[in-house]
Amino acid sequence: MSDGKLKVLKQLDLTRLPTHIAIIMDGNGRWATKRGLPRNMGHKAGCENLKRIIQHIYDLGIKYATFFTFSTENWKRPKEEIDGIFNIVRQYLDEDAEQFVSRGARVVVSGDYKKLPKDLVNSISNIIKKTEKCDKFVLNLAINYGGRDEILMGVNEAIKQGKALEKAEDFSKLLYSKDLPDPDFVIRTSGEMRVSNFMLWQMAYSEFYFTPVYWPSFSEKDLQRALIDFQKRKRRFGSL
Ligand code: IPE
Ligand code: IPE
Ligand code: MG
Repeated sequence: MSDGKLKVLKQLDLTRLPTHIAIIMDGNGRWATKRGLPRNMGHKAGCENLKRIIQHIYDLGIKYATFFTFSTENWKRPKEEIDGIFNIVRQYLDEDAEQFVSRGARVVVSGDYKKLPKDLVNSISNIIKKTEKCDKFVLNLAINYGGRDEILMGVNEAIKQGKALEKAEDFSKLLYSKDLPDPDFVIRTSGEMRVSNFMLWQMAYSEFYFTPVYWPSFSEKDLQRALIDFQKRKRRFGSL
């Protein structure tokens, strides 16, 4: 799938990449406002960048990627903006579904996506179904996703099953991300240094990277710089 022209900064070691990278794509609105554009143009540009960065993560050989696309708190925004975001996502999924299949990329979702508008639910269900046998790459879209809601869902499921859980891993199996390893590396763009209800359970030992760059401007090179930073970290997991 790669076009063979992958350019890699020389400090980046392709043998020591994270298995699962998660990105909080923030700053679309400010990117647009800075240019005198309506906020939804920022979401459009953000979606174009999402495509670019997914391709790059895939080309680098990273197996799992999660992108925070719409949070349970984002319903507080004006309806026009919300509808705009949903339309952009739907269009993207419809247009690129075949490409995902041909690349062996599986699409999964974190979040209560069935509560989204019907046409978007259809597009999401369609791409999940179409790509369910793909195993080269996993794209996890966090949409209508909230970390606290997800934990509540897991707790309720555990109660329903009627038995106490013994290990943390038993709880992980009750969450949306049950088929994914925890993210090794979490990037947030736009300069905000907060988690905003993203993957609260799964981020227990993630490495974090914050950059002031607004999401639509976050380039392949920015991603590689972040990965170089990740490779300088010494992950200890409580050990020495
Ligand atoms: C991130 O960009 C996209 C979503 C949250 C859907 P924002 O829309 O939050 O952009 P800013 O933070 O207002 O600049
Ligand atoms: C987090 O960004 C959600 C997504 C990127 C989808 P927000 O822009 O919603 O976060 P806050 O409101 O600044 O915390
Ligand atoms: Mg924001």
